[in-house]
Parts: sequence; C-alpha cells; structure tokens
Amino acid sequence: MDIPRIFNITESAHRIHNPMTPDKLAALGAALRLEPGARVLDLGCGSGEMLCTWARDHGVVGTGVDLSALFTEQAKRRAVELGVADKVAFVHGDAAGHVSDEKVDVAACVGATWIAGGVGGCIDLLSRSLRPGGIILIGEPYWRTLPATDEGAKGCLAHAISDFLLLPDLLASFGALGCDVVEMVLADQDGWDRYEAAKWLTMRRWLEANPDDELAGEVRAMLTSEPRRYAAYTREYVGWGVFALMKR
Ligand SMILES: C[S@@+](CC[C@H](N)C(=O)[O-])C[C@H]1O[C@@H](n2cnc3c(N)ncnc32)[C@H](O)[C@@H]1O
Repeated sequence: MDIPRIFNITESAHRIHNPMTPDKLAALGAALRLEPGARVLDLGCGSGEMLCTWARDHGVVGTGVDLSALFTEQAKRRAVELGVADKVAFVHGDAAGHVSDEKVDVAACVGATWIAGGVGGCIDLLSRSLRPGGIILIGEPYWRTLPATDEGAKGCLAHAISDFLLLPDLLASFGALGCDVVEMVLADQDGWDRYEAAKWLTMRRWLEANPDDELAGEVRAMLTSEPRRYAAYTREYVGWGVFALMKR
C-alpha cells in the first residue's frame, strides 16, 4: 500500500510537498494562534514538516497519516531531529475515512483533499475528528489566472478548467459548504519554484544513480519536459493556499 512510486522518487528530497515554504508554514502556525498542547490531526501529512515545526514552535501535539511509507519514515526522522518525537506520531496508511479517537483542535488536509472525494468530502471527514469550535485546514489549488482553454488547464496538469476555481470563488465555496474562512496563507511563485524546481535536481541525481531502473525512461522524459511545462503553465496560472475554516 503506497502512492505511485514516481512521487516517492521525484519528491524524495522534499520536506514540504506543496508550494508552501518554511516561512509560509510558520506564518500559518502563528496566524492560527496555536496554544501549547493543542491537538492537531494532519491527513496526507507528507514528510510531517507542518506538524513537526508547529510542535517545536508552538508546543502542539498530534498525529499525521500518510500513504507514502517513505514520507512517513522521513516524518518520524524529522520529529527526532527537531526533538518533538514525544509530541507527534506518524502513521503509514490510507487516510481516507480516518477519524481520530480523541477530538482535535485543528484537523488538516493540506494538498490531498481527493482522499475524501474533494473539498466538501474532506471537510466532512475532518469534521468527524474536530472538537466543537475547532479549526479545519484545507490546502487547495485555485486559478491565479484563468487559462483560455481546457488545453491550458491540461498544461497545468488539471483535467479541465472546471477542476479549480478562482480565489474569490474558492473562498465563497467554503461558505456554501457551511464554513467561515477565518484565515488563509497563500503560496507564491517562489514557493512554487521550491516545490517544482526542487524535483529536477532530485530527478537528475536519481537518474545518475539508477540508469537501469524501470522508471528511468519516465523520469528522463519528465526532467526534459517539466521545466518548460511548469514555467509556461503551472507557475503562471495556478495559485495555491491553505485556508482555515470554522463551521458556522
Ligand atoms: C501534495 S502532498 C501534501 C503533503 C503534505 N500535506 C505537505 O504539505 O507536505 C499529498 C500527500 O498526500 C499523500 N496521500 C495521497 N493519497 C493518500 C491517502 N489515500 N491517504 C493518506 N495520504 C495520502 C501523499 O503521499 C502526499 O504525501
């Protein structure tokens, strides 16, 4: 049980598996006014950077669940490195349907809302772990600029323009799902570069170390085409943010 291997290859050196940078994650933690001992659940936690740094900086405790065995191991190592292994736990597994035994103050899904069928399903899933008055965090892309055609959307690795909303419409959609938007931190193009461009060096080094691997051809093709595709499409058209929500 794991994510497709290509992601474990291309993102093996990432600490944050989305366009948020360390300073943006820190800004989000500060914006949420987290109290020491606050309990956080993070579904699709990746390599655990959000939980580990918030445990270090704010004294939160919590659990992350991720389907990548590699990312889960990296999260456990990061917790030890930051001296917070007694505060956070990381579980390798499918977070679809995951509900915590104890209610949490913050329930997050930052960049993996598909695990519950999209934003609405994800809010429902996270709500089942949330204490009354707790905060839901959703990390989600939106259109920074609307592509003219579905071909442009495909260049951004979306299926169609309808996959994402413009930011005002995304914010309004949270309201339509019964939530107040109480905070947000948006990624920027530098953050996108950290997420996407960091894959290129990882791919290049992986190719040198694994020339005969069955995925070498796919990785070679990605390394050749991704810089141009990314600069022409994702970097220009796609925004990304983490939105803090409270049920009305
Ligand atoms: C875009 S990344 C975001 C990771 C993390 N939230 C972060 O910000 O660094 C999506 C994450 O979802 C995880 N994932 C995908 N499907 C999953 C599932 N069914 N259950 C748990 N995690 C899943 C991937 O392994 C990956 O770490």
